[in-house]
Amino acid sequence: MRKIYIVLAAVFAVSACNNSTVPVYLDPSRSVEERVADALPRLTIEEKVAMLHAQSKFSSRGVPRLGIPEVWCTDGPHGIRPEVLWDDWNQAGWTNDSCTAFPALSCLAATWDREMSLLFGRSIGEEARYRKKDVLLGPGVNICRTPLGGRTFEYMGEDPYLAGQMVVPYVKGVQENGVAACVKHFAVNNQEVRRTSTNSVVDDRTLYEIYLPAFEAAVKEGGAWAIMGSYNLWNGEFNCHNHRLLNEILKGEWGFDGVVISDWGGCRDDDQAITNGLDMEYGTWTNGLRGAPSDSYNNYHLANPYLQRLADGRAGTKELDDKASRILRLIFRTSMAPEAHYGSFNSPEHYEAARRIAAAGTVLLKNDGVLPLSIPDGGRLVVIGENAVKKMVVGGGSSNLKTKYEITPLEALQEAFPNAEVVWERGYVGNVETSYNRVSTGQDLSESRPAPQLLADALSAAEGADAVIFIGGLNKSANQDNESTDKLDITLPYGQDALIETLAAAIPELIVVNISGSPVAMPWAGKVGAVVQGWYGGSETGHALADVLTGAVNPSGKLPFTLPCSLADGPLKTERQYPGIQEEGKEWWQEYYDEGVFVGYRWYASRDIPVCFPFGHGLSYTSFEYGPAKASRSSVRCSGSFGVDEGGESVVKVSVDVRNCGGRDGAEVVQLYLSAPAGDVERPVIELKGFEKLYLEAGKSGKAVLELPRRAFARFDADAHRWVVDPGTWSILVGSSSEDIRSTTEIKVI
Ligand code: GLC
Repeated sequence: MRKIYIVLAAVFAVSACNNSTVPVYLDPSRSVEERVADALPRLTIEEKVAMLHAQSKFSSRGVPRLGIPEVWCTDGPHGIRPEVLWDDWNQAGWTNDSCTAFPALSCLAATWDREMSLLFGRSIGEEARYRKKDVLLGPGVNICRTPLGGRTFEYMGEDPYLAGQMVVPYVKGVQENGVAACVKHFAVNNQEVRRTSTNSVVDDRTLYEIYLPAFEAAVKEGGAWAIMGSYNLWNGEFNCHNHRLLNEILKGEWGFDGVVISDWGGCRDDDQAITNGLDMEYGTWTNGLRGAPSDSYNNYHLANPYLQRLADGRAGTKELDDKASRILRLIFRTSMAPEAHYGSFNSPEHYEAARRIAAAGTVLLKNDGVLPLSIPDGGRLVVIGENAVKKMVVGGGSSNLKTKYEITPLEALQEAFPNAEVVWERGYVGNVETSYNRVSTGQDLSESRPAPQLLADALSAAEGADAVIFIGGLNKSANQDNESTDKLDITLPYGQDALIETLAAAIPELIVVNISGSPVAMPWAGKVGAVVQGWYGGSETGHALADVLTGAVNPSGKLPFTLPCSLADGPLKTERQYPGIQEEGKEWWQEYYDEGVFVGYRWYASRDIPVCFPFGHGLSYTSFEYGPAKASRSSVRCSGSFGVDEGGESVVKVSVDVRNCGGRDGAEVVQLYLSAPAGDVERPVIELKGFEKLYLEAGKSGKAVLELPRRAFARFDADAHRWVVDPGTWSILVGSSSEDIRSTTEIKVI
């Protein structure tokens, strides 16, 4: 055997020298598919199997003999994780891996701006490429089913259309750099509680209408090269090797030609790992899910157990060749791509992008004229709250980052008003932890004063101030926007609600900034002068917030999820719905998605339940007037495709003129909701089916043109397993939020 390798190596060496017969798989001028077809038969069985599973915490084997490189993965969705030790979650202590921390994805979703998403993807893709990573483990697009979801901050909100529209540019931007986006966590993984032992029981209509569309868009429109299976089960099978989800839907119905990667420790079964659509197994045992045997990498499910099955005939090579082909395709798309990619890291452009995105995602929820801030020279601004100073790029779970710098809101406000006195008062003590996986912010957040003293000091400092801002919220610690734990409620922790009420009683024009990645209740919203939803904005979080508070940037963010008045108002009413129950004779916890498609605003709007701030809500320092919404067609056929009208159009186009009638430039997210005619199947009273962000100079007008393909009108008929469009008169609602409808029109489906 060894002699063959030596001869083969000699042939390559000679051919490579005279360049006349470079093997096809090494020839960058050949197509990816030609290179895959040429490489596959060159691999031994052992080499194919070795590619299927991790060799370290974040890498898997290439084919050294043939010069085919290893595959290196990295977290996370909003920045490149610091290098870790070979088989350890802790950082390795390198000194060249402090990254640009971009905003968390709930902030990106709040921009409702596809261009921002492309900028985000390109920037983070450049950082991954520069750090020589081939697979970015993100973005996450799991739907916010419950406001308690621990990783809501990493995802793109409660609506499948918004998440789908925002994930596509991100994926394309990343992959332009020869880095695979690995869209996660597939699928119906909408909580952290018992995420590795809960079976999500979801009917097909709900699955196809709510929980799959963002992944479907990432694959079909974004061309994602990788998908990460989720820890949970769906319909009784673990999703890292779920036949229906991976083989039938993802690879079958959607034609996915990329790689399915397990979540770290998500692969649970030797035989299912072979037959049910998994291509790369990572993290088995090494995240504490189960006790690891010695030499655990060779004992992975797709390692020696697979070799054994191939040797004794229990497994054929069909699945093996498919898996290996997909991995080779990944390699020829990334590290061996024909065009050279070099990326860039910690560039001024990336920090500028982070600042722009974080500002564009900031949501002005309420403003009684107290914003933008105006502090005269010699004036006094009082800032109260721990989140004004606490650095939060560190923490939160696998998306934890080591960044070159993180500007806090207080630092940015001090920069913004150099000739005023900017005073900070703690107000409350939240979480004093400052490190995660041995990444530390270097801060000392210790505090000796008792709560009453903190309140008294804050009230005293506020006296006579030109403006007072409370900056609080959550902080990515346990049960507060943190992987592996869900929130316990949506009330603010650390007594912040009472503190805000007390401050508001003394300071009627109090400005409140809530920094969180998920919905919180705001019972005091009616008692303060302004409310701003800030996010985990990354390295430039402070500058971005100050840009909005000072008016340097006119806020244009819109909520990607509903802010309910209370958790009890939501659709999850029973334990079986959340967090799940144990049932006789069933090994795993069972969680029933009984609410069906009525998630988020679909629930609140359909049940006429008042909310604190609705989905899609966000104010500006200017104002916008809408003209009448006009549809390009008065009717469409419900059977088959929409057909092509005289203009050659196969979609309905809805246009609306919008004028910026205020005194400053701004941006408005024009939203389009459809309302189906009454029928046999209960449907949400409204569903988001289009949006466009218009940037308009003061006094100027623009036109939003929103396209409605047939799918926009369709519901999923689970029995027939197809999308169907119901006839009748449909309402088209166009507005500034799901509750602020400015114009309606209608269209007949015949
Ligand atoms: C984690 C997360 C996943 C992450 C992976 C590697 O458990 O669920 O999002 O990419 O493991 O850190």
